[in-house]
Amino acid sequence: MKFTTPATTNPIDRLQVVGKPTDRIDGPFKTTGTAPYAYERHDAVPDAAYGWVVGAAIAKGRITKIDTAAARAAPGVIAIVTYENAGKLGKGDKNTARLLAGPEVQHYHQAVAVVVAQTFEQARAAASLVHVEYAPQKGVYDLEAAMNAAGPAGSKQKDKSTTKVGDFDHAFATVPVKLDAVYKTPDQTHAMMEPHASIAVWQGNKLTLYTSNQMVHWGVQDMAKTLGIPEADVRLVSPYIGGGFGGKLFLRSEALLAALGAKAAGRPVKVTLQRALMMNNTTHRPATIQHIRIGATREGRIAAIAHESWSGDLPGGSPETAVNQTRLFYAGANRFTQMRLAVLDLAEGNAMRAPGEAPGLMALEIAMDELAEKLGMDPVMLRIVNDTTVDPEKPGRKFSTRRFVDTLRVGAERFGWSKRNPKPGQVRDGRWLVGYGMAGAFRNNINMKSGARVRLERDGTVTVETDMTDIGTGTYTIIGQTAAEMLGVPLARVTVRLGDSTYPVSAGSGGQWGGNSSTAGVYAACVKLREHVAKKLGLDPAHAEFADGMVRAGGKAQPLAQAARDGAVVGEDTMEYGELAKTYQQSTFGAHFVEVAVDAATAEVRVRRMLAVCAAGRILNPKSARSQVIGAMTMGVGAALMEDLVVDKRVGFFVNHDLAGYEVPVHADIPHQEVIFLDETDPTSSPMKAKGVGELGICGVAAAVANGIYNATGVRVRDYPVTLDKLL
Ligand code: MOS
Repeated sequence: MKFTTPATTNPIDRLQVVGKPTDRIDGPFKTTGTAPYAYERHDAVPDAAYGWVVGAAIAKGRITKIDTAAARAAPGVIAIVTYENAGKLGKGDKNTARLLAGPEVQHYHQAVAVVVAQTFEQARAAASLVHVEYAPQKGVYDLEAAMNAAGPAGSKQKDKSTTKVGDFDHAFATVPVKLDAVYKTPDQTHAMMEPHASIAVWQGNKLTLYTSNQMVHWGVQDMAKTLGIPEADVRLVSPYIGGGFGGKLFLRSEALLAALGAKAAGRPVKVTLQRALMMNNTTHRPATIQHIRIGATREGRIAAIAHESWSGDLPGGSPETAVNQTRLFYAGANRFTQMRLAVLDLAEGNAMRAPGEAPGLMALEIAMDELAEKLGMDPVMLRIVNDTTVDPEKPGRKFSTRRFVDTLRVGAERFGWSKRNPKPGQVRDGRWLVGYGMAGAFRNNINMKSGARVRLERDGTVTVETDMTDIGTGTYTIIGQTAAEMLGVPLARVTVRLGDSTYPVSAGSGGQWGGNSSTAGVYAACVKLREHVAKKLGLDPAHAEFADGMVRAGGKAQPLAQAARDGAVVGEDTMEYGELAKTYQQSTFGAHFVEVAVDAATAEVRVRRMLAVCAAGRILNPKSARSQVIGAMTMGVGAALMEDLVVDKRVGFFVNHDLAGYEVPVHADIPHQEVIFLDETDPTSSPMKAKGVGELGICGVAAAVANGIYNATGVRVRDYPVTLDKLL
């Protein structure tokens, strides 16, 4: 089905199942420990040997010698794979660095070997006996030092490096009120609970990989390319994922090493990437340096806005697209944005939790707070005054929906923003300095082609199959809700099967496109199934209504199950998109409000309360959507106050490479969180009229916290995370 014109009324609009707050159908499996995660597939693979990954001990250089004799002689060792015996390997399109090093080493902890043994302990012990010698080379690890050498750069997302509208320099020189500041965001890591994990099984030339991956089809493609085998010979199975946050969008080393190890060992091999390797072996969110200049009239209208961002990546890599939102968020006739990319020899940078907008808004939304103060204007009002209904870089292009101002007004009202004292450092609560902060939230909506297969069984139950993944987001449930709504059956009658590459290719989970896109694919498959069912029942497909387990048309009614009396009826289709997303700018909007308290003596920061207001199209399941947003708000607090991969700029690696040294918020750090979804449907997004919402939840949060800290203390920190040493 091709989605080319805005959606009209359709069966989803009945909202009997879709749109209702619904418990996750996979919840009981997860809470009772019966959901099989990748590393625990004893059911499917009872006889797997264990692989242990050896990471490179230098950041840049060459391997001059690998001596595996002692390791091979160790108890239980079955096989050791290095570049010397791995055979010729290609590189997946989505990987910047090779997943197995040799002879060149491109970054610290790049995999140099996998040791396969009978037991986990034997593999680990033998790995310590693998002796690798290196000829290190000098690398570049310091973004600030590499800034001047950084060139304009596009990205894998095909963003242009530079945009210019009007004459920024002239306008900025002539405005009465100016903000000109530099902001820094650090390298960050996904830090998901479940490490990268895979079990590889070969049957002849065919590989099955039980893995933990957000994008099943990309994984198939890149594994086939890396091994040099046909895609048809690779099966990925990824039904449960213990967190990804962008870190599992792409094929990673543990999957390749499991496949190579299994081939060498002649039996299935399971590999989990050791936690201590994850930060340097896999991808991370790159650090940014962002220079923002905003010029406004005395009334607070933006006349000139410039946002330049510097980030680093390995050769051939791409920039953090931190200027994305600035191209679309606020009005202003004279505009300039630019991304510049420095070549760094740290592990590869890539997507993490709203890549682009999340770090971009960490800077832009402090800048707006600073500008509001210079104007003597309320920061909520500054944003309202600079709202736009069209893409400010392409004024002919309208936003499909844009309720940004409503999110600001509703949020300010609900939060009690009018009680804020605009003068910083004034409000005391015992030893605590108390402040309010807010920020706007923006995240683009992307539609991705997505397929599904829906089967009506003889007993009247429905089964949905798609290679879509549920990364803890609630996908199982919204897909079940969609099929139930389309076919007029209760959710309990729908079985959802996900994450298997033998199912139709879906959108996958990334960039907050999964929810709307994957359910739109299920919608398309259900449309097909409805046609088949109506025909089988002798009813007019054009007028058939599916409700209460019945199909009705032209005054006649038949039980749905009757259509499958001679065997299951199957509908399969893929939702594809036309030019609609080019005609309309589709984005999601929100506002974040926080109250923070800062200890006047120690500068310890406590977040006291948080509110998010989101306008993100139809909310398919308010319960799981709320969970997405409060999770994202929690990550925003991490970005504001804690998260920081510390670079050793001499040796070239992230020093704090475990969950003891890389801090993220725990329950005690997070206060009451409230989420409000504004009523909205976007008929240009898909027949579901939904949009992404998960990543919107993090966008702007860190700036709201930083702005709250400023309001509490009068100390403006432009360098994240806002740790107490920066406040004293
Ligand atoms: Mo998301 S960081 O695009 O998985």
